[in-house]
Amino acid sequence: MKKKKITVFSAIQPSGHLTIGNYISVLKHWKVIQNQYKCIFCIADLHSLTSITKKNFLQKKSVLDTLALYLACGVDPNKSIIFIQSLVHEHAELNWILNCHTYYQELTRMTQFKSKTEQIKKKINAGLLNYPTLMAADILLYQTDKVHVGQDQKQHIELTRNLAIRFNSHYGNIFNLPELLIFELGSKIMSLLEPNKKMSKSDLNQKNIIYLLDNLNNISKKIRSSMTDSDNPPRIFYDTINKPGISNLLIILSTLSEKSIFELENYFLGKSYLELKKEVFDVINKHLIKIQKKFFIYRKNQSFLINIAYEGAKKASIIAKKTLHKVYKNLGFLEKINF
Ligand code: TRP
Repeated sequence: MKKKKITVFSAIQPSGHLTIGNYISVLKHWKVIQNQYKCIFCIADLHSLTSITKKNFLQKKSVLDTLALYLACGVDPNKSIIFIQSLVHEHAELNWILNCHTYYQELTRMTQFKSKTEQIKKKINAGLLNYPTLMAADILLYQTDKVHVGQDQKQHIELTRNLAIRFNSHYGNIFNLPELLIFELGSKIMSLLEPNKKMSKSDLNQKNIIYLLDNLNNISKKIRSSMTDSDNPPRIFYDTINKPGISNLLIILSTLSEKSIFELENYFLGKSYLELKKEVFDVINKHLIKIQKKFFIYRKNQSFLINIAYEGAKKASIIAKKTLHKVYKNLGFLEKINF
């Protein structure tokens, strides 16, 4: 089958709980694309180490929660490879090699790095700076054709491509050059109270975020209190500059109901913001009831989840080893053997 020749790679960090933003921009598509492509879905727990604090350390629990959520969203381990990054040590190894081919200036230029360091200000761990090279290692190890990400990761994929080109030009054709796979509509879901800023699972204000595992009553309250605007009479149309709150709600509704923005604008002509919020809640409710129900069934079965993690790691490491072997050989290192 031709369709399965194209490898798609994607990953989410298991830090904190996943949000409706993760779902709409990335997760929701996995169930569909796994039928079209050879998909590799990773739980990027090594990346989570970059945001670890004394109070907020990584737990086995959040990795297994994330795995159960992948399954609850329809990712099928018989169709896709699902694996946990830290179980495949080739990621850390290639990361080092790529670090030595990445310029410091390229890393300090990354907008995500700049905004994170602005928030943190004091002690900034070097992992935060090197974060994109670990991402590049994730992607390049699997000879990825397409990387599926949300809008905020675009710059990291551009860096990955530059590294692959640089590496290939030094050492021969080692890495496939990955392309971006982005589903534009919904690729960036904004915060509920501050619709000019991306919804982020690390936001301190819980009212900005809808978690996939939030209690549904809470979600209803959060949507009701979401920021709109003071247009009088209320006008419901898509305009991210002048009406960021309404536009965000329209995008959520459009992507989850599969109705076009145009169709929704017509439907809401003359209607109130409360009516829009009610419809947004209904559609979220419809999706999350199913996901949460499945999540709790999968999550209860810990040995089943751990088994999937090990099986996935086995499959992933076969591919990763092959690439790393090629890299070592071309760098002039002694080739690795199993001792
Ligand atoms: N940094 C990505 C995010 O926060 C997660 C990620 C880690 C990733 N490694 C990746 C995404 C490789 C795509 C490819 O969303």
